Amino acid sequence: MKNHNAAQKIQDLQYFGEFGGVNPSITDSSTYTFLSAKTMFDTFEGNAEGCYLYSRHSTPSNLYLGQALAALENTEAANVTASGMGAITSVLLQLCQAGDEIVSSRTIYGGTYAFLKNFLPKLQIQTKFVDITNLESVENAIQENTKIIYCETMSNPLLEIADIEALSQIAKKHNIKLVVDNTFSPYIVAPANLGADVVIHSLTKFINGSSDAVGGVICGSQEFIDQLRNVNDGACMLLGPTMDSFRAASILKNLRTLHIRMKQHSHNASYLAGEFEKLGIKTVYPGLSSHPGHETLKKIGNLEYGFGGMMTLDVGSLDKANALMEMMQMENLGYLAVSLGFYKTLFSAPGTSTSSDIPIEEEKAMGLSDGLIRFSIGLDHDIENTFKKMKECMQKLEILK
Ligand SMILES: Cc1ncc(COP(=O)(O)O)c(C=O)c1O
Repeated sequence: MKNHNAAQKIQDLQYFGEFGGVNPSITDSSTYTFLSAKTMFDTFEGNAEGCYLYSRHSTPSNLYLGQALAALENTEAANVTASGMGAITSVLLQLCQAGDEIVSSRTIYGGTYAFLKNFLPKLQIQTKFVDITNLESVENAIQENTKIIYCETMSNPLLEIADIEALSQIAKKHNIKLVVDNTFSPYIVAPANLGADVVIHSLTKFINGSSDAVGGVICGSQEFIDQLRNVNDGACMLLGPTMDSFRAASILKNLRTLHIRMKQHSHNASYLAGEFEKLGIKTVYPGLSSHPGHETLKKIGNLEYGFGGMMTLDVGSLDKANALMEMMQMENLGYLAVSLGFYKTLFSAPGTSTSSDIPIEEEKAMGLSDGLIRFSIGLDHDIENTFKKMKECMQKLEILK
């Protein structure tokens, strides 16, 4: 089941506020009272359904958002966190201990790469980085002590597509977990439907969509989410990556429009990618038939939502990339900024920004060239006009003749 009609599931969620409000009330408390000491004890033990103990553990606002994101990803449960990195690090630390190994895609968000490469070895957890599209090399990297295959559905920043279905078969065969960061492709791909055990998002990106909040989520089985929240050994409880209730409430409201936004992001990115490719600019976009992951995304994706809002253009050199980004910002075509999923277009040069933790030689090996610009395409109403203006900038800078 690739498609579980996530948008309908989210539409059907009906939460009333404390006074009959159309949005659930925000819980403005760090701690909660009990009428009996016995119930407090039971809650501590995790046995008092509907009772709250302390807001690092859970809050009604966070549970509402978690429930909605579990519906989005078709998992039994979900736990929201203060950031995407809070979600990623908690999952990895929950599943691994000293002596364990992780097999990870080599094209992943720079922060995740840095955590795997520089931080986890301090805890004797090692990572083998592989080309995730080469299933044979993924399987060959797995050893006795491997606990996780880690990847992004659509990888940052090169937009490689991981064949989640095939990777999950490998994971199952070796009795290890497949953990997928689905930040670039909410609604487009539902990794849990394809066999992923844990699905992570940085909510900071498309899901929130207004670049005014940082957040993350872990979606998985009830058993795994309970483990993460366990007061004795749960990473989400003990490391403290807790989302604030006010943020949970605001992100939940933005989630309600995600299905419409994803379609528009995809529509706009698809148009621009097609036009720039026609002009001879090296364009990477999973919706183009020239993209190596195009067929895989067609196989695993729900194409009602298109091929996503991310694309890269290679304009030849870092100087040209910088000049173009500055000019596009002056022309009000978007912002020279990291991050993605905003209603305006964002652009940055990944070699010098989000992926700067990756050593130069490795960047070269992956095809991360200096002139690469990563675009998160916005919700522009008139994308043809945007294209015209972008093209003019490129002509002025002699990127295009
Ligand atoms: C794919 C991906 N995963 C995770 C993260 C980290 O999320 P956050 O910044 O919310 O911690 C990012 C941030 O850019 C990202 O692009």
